[in-house]
Amino acid sequence: MDFTGKAAISTGAASGMGLLFAQNFAALGGNVLMCDVNEPVLLEKAAEINAKGQGRAVACLCDVRDYTQVCAARDKAVEEFGRIDIMANFAGGTAVRMQKVDPEKYPEFPDVPIDVYDWGIDVNLRGPFYFAHAVMKQMREQKSGLFISIGSITGMEGSGYGVDYPVSKAGLMFGLTKSLAQFGAPYGIRAVCVSPGPVLTRPAMANMKTLLGRAADPQEIIDLVLFIASEKGQFINGENIMIDGGRNAMGRA
Ligand SMILES: NC(=O)c1ccc[n+]([C@@H]2O[C@H](COP(=O)([O-])OP(=O)(O)OC[C@H]3O[C@@H](n4cnc5c(N)ncnc54)[C@H](O)[C@@H]3O)[C@@H](O)[C@H]2O)c1
Repeated sequence: MDFTGKAAISTGAASGMGLLFAQNFAALGGNVLMCDVNEPVLLEKAAEINAKGQGRAVACLCDVRDYTQVCAARDKAVEEFGRIDIMANFAGGTAVRMQKVDPEKYPEFPDVPIDVYDWGIDVNLRGPFYFAHAVMKQMREQKSGLFISIGSITGMEGSGYGVDYPVSKAGLMFGLTKSLAQFGAPYGIRAVCVSPGPVLTRPAMANMKTLLGRAADPQEIIDLVLFIASEKGQFINGENIMIDGGRNAMGRA
């Protein structure tokens, strides 16, 4: 795969899969705008990529919950690279975990303060929606582009406690991806959602069952994203692709 001359935006790029995507994309010759709220780590990771002398990385402090910051990130990508070929939305996570909610203090769904769930819906769903709205203007002008969302097996399964997460992920997996594919088709713009099962960006994910008896290496998820973005993946559109070791096919007994 060769992404020389291509430009991507990656959100959640200071950590986990958002970072790994940026590293891979630059190693394959592409330029990448790395967006995150964790500025010190973002700067360090962008510098590491640039030291390798392949594609260029630009760090961009951006809270995906803020539309003004999202538009500024889009403008920065266009200013730096002249175009946006791939918009990859990795920022996300379950609010009760990311916000460190104490389950002893807040044992059930209605007990958890609503602002915790607001955060989850805002980061996981509103953020990609904002980026969709912002980058489609640029992609429409270019008459090309790919919008990648990251869903989750939890979007199919639901969760009785981390409710914001499946609600948001299901929105990406089906509503947003299909809608953007419909809007984008006349302009050569594709939309695809990649939905992992457990991924070892954290050791705890090894506890989640799959038919294959293991969690994914993060690189396995990024390889799929890169394939979709590459010349070989150009007919994939409007689809949610599960990459979960067969968890979605597990029996219920
Ligand atoms: N790890 C898994 O098992 C798994 C499984 C299915 C789906 N996913 C999804 O994959 C994506 C990446 O997961 P990961 O485990 O690599 O993530 P991670 O927790 O390693 O990284 C998430 C990044 O998002 C950033 N972030 C948080 N709030 C933000 C905001 N408001 N604006 C911008 N950036 C913000 C964080 O600073 C962090 O760098 C997420 O959307 C997650 O829901 C992960």
